[in-house]
Amino acid sequence: MTRLGVNVDHVATVREARRTKYPDPVTAATIAELAGADGIIVHLREDRRHIQDRDLEILRKTVETKLNLEMAATQEMIKTALDIKPDMVTLVPERREELTTEGGLEVSLNLEAFKKYVHLLQEAELMVSLFIDPDLDQVKAAHRVGADYIEIHTGRYSEVRSRTQMEEEFTKIINAVKMAEKLGLGINAGHGLNYQNVGRIASIKEIEELNIGQSIIARAVLVGLEQAVREMKELIK
Ligand code: PXP
Repeated sequence: MTRLGVNVDHVATVREARRTKYPDPVTAATIAELAGADGIIVHLREDRRHIQDRDLEILRKTVETKLNLEMAATQEMIKTALDIKPDMVTLVPERREELTTEGGLEVSLNLEAFKKYVHLLQEAELMVSLFIDPDLDQVKAAHRVGADYIEIHTGRYSEVRSRTQMEEEFTKIINAVKMAEKLGLGINAGHGLNYQNVGRIASIKEIEELNIGQSIIARAVLVGLEQAVREMKELIK
C-alpha cells in the first residue's frame, strides 16, 4: 500500500505566528505516527519561518517511522543534514518570497552541482530524493546525478480546475512515473494533495509514498490530528 508521510511544518507555522512554545510539531509528529503515518516530513527553511533547528534535533530522537528532511541544496543545509542524519533528504528549490515551494528543481541544467550534493549526502548513508516537476528531462537528470528517489511535484495537478488540464497533468505524472521506474528510481509524490484529489494519485501503484502537509493540518484544526491522519490513510487505501 502507498505510504503516507505527514508534513508537520504548519503546526510550527501556528506556533511561530506568536513565537510561543505551542503547538509543538514534535508532539504533532508523535500523534500522526500513532494515527498511522508512515513517515514524518519537515522543511527546514533558510528563513526558519516554521520549523526550527530545535524541532529537527528532537524529531531525530523521537520519530519512530521515517524522518524525511526537505531542504534547499545549500552548504548550510548539507551540513545540517550530515549532522542530523535524517532517514531521507529531499532537496527542494527555495525562494524567500514564496508562500510555499513553487515548482520543482532544475536538475538538468545543474548536473554537476547536484551530483556533488547527492554524493556528499549518500557518502553519509543518507537516502536522497529530488523534488521535480513531472518532466522527463528532469527525471533523466535525477537519474544521471545518482539520486535514490524522485518526489514528483503534484502541485500543478492539484491546482488546475478544468477536466482537460487535469487529464494533461495526470498524463505528465504517469509518464514521469514510467520513466523513473524504467531508470530504477524510487518514486514519491506530493504537494497540494488533499482529501478530494488524493485518490487518483494514490492509485498509481509505482508511487511508494505521498507527502502531505497543509490539507491534513488544516483538517486537524477542526477534527483533531488523529482523525485527520486516519481519514487520509483510509482514502489512500
Ligand atoms: N513535498 C514537498 C517537497 C514540499 O515542499 C511540500 C510542502 O512543504 C509537500 C510535499 C507538502 O505539500 P502540502 O503542504 O501542499 O501537502
